[in-house]
Amino acid sequence: MTKLSSKDVLRSDQFSKAEIDLIMETARTYEAAVDAGEVLDVMKGKVLSTLFYEPSTRTRLSFETAMLRLGGDVITVAEAKSSSAAKGESLHDTIKTVEGYADVIVLRHPQIGAAKEAAEATDQPVLNAGDGAGQHPTQSLLDLYTILKEQKKVDGLTIALAGDLRNGRTVHSLALLLANYDVRFLFVAPDALRMPTEIVEQVKAAGIDVQETENLSQAICEADVLYMTRIQRERFEDPAEYERLKDAFILRNDALASAKPSLTIMHPLPRVNEIDPDVDAFAGAAYFRQSANGVPIRMALLALVSGRA
Ligand code: NCD
Repeated sequence: MTKLSSKDVLRSDQFSKAEIDLIMETARTYEAAVDAGEVLDVMKGKVLSTLFYEPSTRTRLSFETAMLRLGGDVITVAEAKSSSAAKGESLHDTIKTVEGYADVIVLRHPQIGAAKEAAEATDQPVLNAGDGAGQHPTQSLLDLYTILKEQKKVDGLTIALAGDLRNGRTVHSLALLLANYDVRFLFVAPDALRMPTEIVEQVKAAGIDVQETENLSQAICEADVLYMTRIQRERFEDPAEYERLKDAFILRNDALASAKPSLTIMHPLPRVNEIDPDVDAFAGAAYFRQSANGVPIRMALLALVSGRA
């Protein structure tokens, strides 16, 4: 049986510290094995179904790569909107169908709570690959893995989350996951895009020091990790409001003069305008290393929820 208390991965705050450690350790083992050229058969005979109702490059491809690296197979609906959902099929019925084909289900859906609804419809493990403006727990685990690799620790760090904190599911999950550690948070957002109150309250209740600010320059000076995010255009009802806010924060090389030399810059990607491409040459610009870390983390999650690790 699985060593995780739930077979589903729905939210980042479902994990105990021991479970987070287990996921990190399992990911490290798989990363080392892949780097050493080992061919793994941990998921041999198992089929993963990736079901994406919203666009994705990294999340879907890294889940699929993870399954293939573990010796399993993959079936995919990359544009689930063009599947039977377009004919009016409910999520429940789609999941009941997919469970007849696959052993593990990865779901991205525009509705908050969709992954939970899917998990309730099936006994097979369901992994939330993003539920609207809700959560993105597997991303937050690869973000933590990245911080540990880049900074060699997480306790004691000042972590700035910047951009669309209201609608960005990656920052919701990351804030709750990092609340298991001794970190200090700077939440940097325009007033209209502040971190939801319930997340701020939950993080504070865990004893974490949180400062909310609109001042990116101050955050750049103080941070050990700067996590930039895209303004989530698809979540805006009013296009004019998006136009007003879309360039709220743009990180350019000149601003990095006042940063710690050891600063790690992260972004879940895709970026639009938030990080000038000139910043890519900065040693601590970790966003492409971060996206590659999705593979070992998702290998660990697939194996653990399947009881194979
Ligand atoms: C993010 C997402 O889908 O929430 N992308 C990702 O999974 N790496 C971030 C975003 O779309 O802005």
